[in-house]
Amino acid sequence: ETTLGAAAAQSGRYFGTAINSGKLGDSAYTTIANREFNMVTAENEMKIDATEPQQGVFNFTNADRVYNWAVQNGKRVRGHTLAWHSQQPGWMQSLSGSALRQAMINHINGVMAHYKGQLYAWDVVNEAYADSGGGRRDSNLQRTGNDWIEVAFRTARAADPGVKLCYNDYNIDNWTWEKTQGVYNMVRDFKSRGVPIDCVGLQAHFNSGSPYNSNFRTTISSFAALGVDVQITELDIQGASATTYANVVNDCLAVARCNGITTWGVRDSDSWRSGDTPLLFDGNGNKKPAYTSVLNALNSV
Ligand code: G3I
Repeated sequence: ETTLGAAAAQSGRYFGTAINSGKLGDSAYTTIANREFNMVTAENEMKIDATEPQQGVFNFTNADRVYNWAVQNGKRVRGHTLAWHSQQPGWMQSLSGSALRQAMINHINGVMAHYKGQLYAWDVVNEAYADSGGGRRDSNLQRTGNDWIEVAFRTARAADPGVKLCYNDYNIDNWTWEKTQGVYNMVRDFKSRGVPIDCVGLQAHFNSGSPYNSNFRTTISSFAALGVDVQITELDIQGASATTYANVVNDCLAVARCNGITTWGVRDSDSWRSGDTPLLFDGNGNKKPAYTSVLNALNSV
C-alpha cells in the first residue's frame, strides 16, 4: 500500500492524525491529511473550554468543523477529551467540590449526547496521573474525590453505550516508570471491579527527557493483557528518527490489541512543538525518512 491509512488497514488497524480546524482552509494541509490518514482527533476543538465555554452553554462549531471534514472524507473520529485538569474554561476552574463534580458529569453528558453513536472512541479522562510518584495528579477534579475517574467512565458509558471509552496519558510508555505502573494498577482495578473502560491511549510524545525505550512493547502488551485495547494517540518524536518511528510502529504491530496509531499533527509546521520537527512530513509537505520507515513497517505485516 502507498498511504499510511491503507497500509495500517491491512492488519485491521488505523493510522490517524490530529486535525486543527484553523487549517482546514489550507489545501496543502488537507491534501496530505486526506490522502494519508483514516482516523482523526480534533487537536483542541472537542476540549472542555471549546465545547462548554459558559456553564451549560455548549458550542460545537469548531468541533463539528473537524468532525464533518473527517466524516465527509471517509474517516473515523476519536473524541478528545471530556475530563481534564487543563484547558478548562474559567467557570470550571473556579468550581470545586460537589458543584465541580456535577459540572464534570453534565459536561460529559452534554458533549457525548451531541456525538452519540458517531465516534470511534472518547478519551474520557486525560492526564490524571502525576509526573512522578505513581499517584494521582493534584487538580480541582482530583480534589472532588478519588472516585472522579470511575464516575467519569460510568457516566460516559451510560451517555453513549456504543463508543469505546479510553484513559489517555503521557509518560506511561516506559514500563519501568512509576507513572506507568500507577495507571496500569488503575486499569487493572477498573477491570476487576467492572468499571467500564475499553482502551488505554499512550500519547507517546517522545523527546530527550522522555525518550522511546525498547520496553514500550512490554507496556503495550501488559495493558492489552488486562483486557483493553491500546492505541498510540499523540505520537511525535523529537528529531523524527526513522528508526525510532519504525520501532514504535513495530511495537504496536506486535500486539494484537494495539489497534491504532495517531501522529499529533500532519507537517512539522503544524506541530505543537514545531521546533522539534517531530512529525512525518516537513513544513513543505514532503515525506521525511520517518514517513518511509513507518510505511514500510506497516506494509511488512
Ligand atoms: O485559540 C487561541 C488564540 O485565539 C490565541 O490568540 C492564542 C494565543 O496563545 O491561543 C490560542 O489557543 C491555543 C490553542 O492551542 C489553539 O492553538 C492555546 O493557547 C494553546 O495552549 C493550545 O495548545 C494546545 C495544547 O494541547 C493545550 O494544552 C496544543 O495546540 C495541542 O497540540 C496540545 O495537545 C495536547 C493534548 O491535548 C493532550 N496531550 C498533550 C498534547 C500536547 O501538549
